[in-house]
Amino acid sequence: MRRRLIVGNWKMHKTAAEATALVHRLSELVPQTGEVEVVLAPPFTALHAAAQALPLSRPFALAAQNLHWEDEGPFTGEVSAPMLKDLGCQYVILGHSERRHSFGDDDKKISKKVHAALRHGLRPILCVGESLSDRKKRRTKTVVTGQLRKCLEGISKDELRTLTIAYEPVWAIGTGHAATPAQAGAVHDTLRATLARGWGAEAGEQVRILYGGSVTPENVGAFMASDQIDGALVGGACLDPQSFATIISLAQRVAR
Ligand code: 13P
Repeated sequence: MRRRLIVGNWKMHKTAAEATALVHRLSELVPQTGEVEVVLAPPFTALHAAAQALPLSRPFALAAQNLHWEDEGPFTGEVSAPMLKDLGCQYVILGHSERRHSFGDDDKKISKKVHAALRHGLRPILCVGESLSDRKKRRTKTVVTGQLRKCLEGISKDELRTLTIAYEPVWAIGTGHAATPAQAGAVHDTLRATLARGWGAEAGEQVRILYGGSVTPENVGAFMASDQIDGALVGGACLDPQSFATIISLAQRVAR
């Protein structure tokens, strides 16, 4: 059985001091994560503070929200995989729709980023998802499987096992209109079938597929009850420690 994973994507929120306070509060509210793995993704500028604020028992792992595919060089404003490893990151979110739509991250660039992360032992959390117009045109499956295949081109079976996929329909992000567990489950099935076709059923079975898009303490239980959904990528609701702690505790309690 795949271990459940809850990821908090802080996006462009929290100063270093605010990150320290949030990690301290979360560590009090969620002293043990048990069956559920929890990952925090602060902005670059708060990663160090978040790492320092974690208790020795380290109930949470850290993720970055992006990286550049080169290790170093003349790339003003960019941050590389070795730099993130050095800060204590274990994961990196790649291909988030906000980066795809506002910062020119296309499948080709994302693929280079996935390879860079893997080269340095960072585990990618690869986001895929369709727009509202894709969904209305019944192009959801074509869009997400296309993103998946292009972003994972050249990945070995062993590398695939370390990967997490996050299905985030663009129309559900920050809108308060989450997909239903059935809608998400159907896309998750398609994604897993694509993984199985490309890398074999056994490797495909090991990849966790998360749902993201308006996940809240109120709806997370329904997602967790689905055996097609291995966890959640949470935006807005992870900025409030009480909400995020409730989401984690429901992910621990709800049986599939
Ligand atoms: P919201 O939970 O705010 O909809 O954001 C989802 C998301 O984009 C997580 O990466």
